[in-house]
Amino acid sequence: MALRNILKEGDERLRKKSREVTDFNERLWTLLDDMYETMIQDGVGLAAPQVGVLRRAVVIDIGEGKLELVNPKITRSEGDQLGSEGCLSIPGEYGLVHRPQKLTIQAQDRFGKPFEMEAEGFLAVACCHELDHLDGVLFIDKAERMLSPEELEQMEEG
Ligand code: NI
Repeated sequence: MALRNILKEGDERLRKKSREVTDFNERLWTLLDDMYETMIQDGVGLAAPQVGVLRRAVVIDIGEGKLELVNPKITRSEGDQLGSEGCLSIPGEYGLVHRPQKLTIQAQDRFGKPFEMEAEGFLAVACCHELDHLDGVLFIDKAERMLSPEELEQMEEG
């Protein structure tokens, strides 16, 4: 496994629509392993375009274990939540974003096997955020407003 360079906002590759994964081979597995290693110190999710690979694959770990979603699609969403979000491609910036409270997602695993999952609460936020990356959308596009460092600190203290 190896750490990959995370593209920062302003890089046009972050604004492209990623293509479906068609080859479930060692190259994909290495990509997913590298993405996880790159993300896990500081983040809860990473999408392939953030490391310059314009393919529909994301890794997520909100502290409940590793999740790999290849060619993910949201098939159902309900409710609404407003929460703070940041992004490894936009370091130091946080904003308030509306997301669905609950999602159903269909995706494939690293071997191409289809599965369905439900995500609720913060996991739903993480999934929406990462799936947006696959369409070139960043949280700052959707943020109701950005948060100051003081506001963020207050929110984290709860
Ligand atoms: Ni992000």
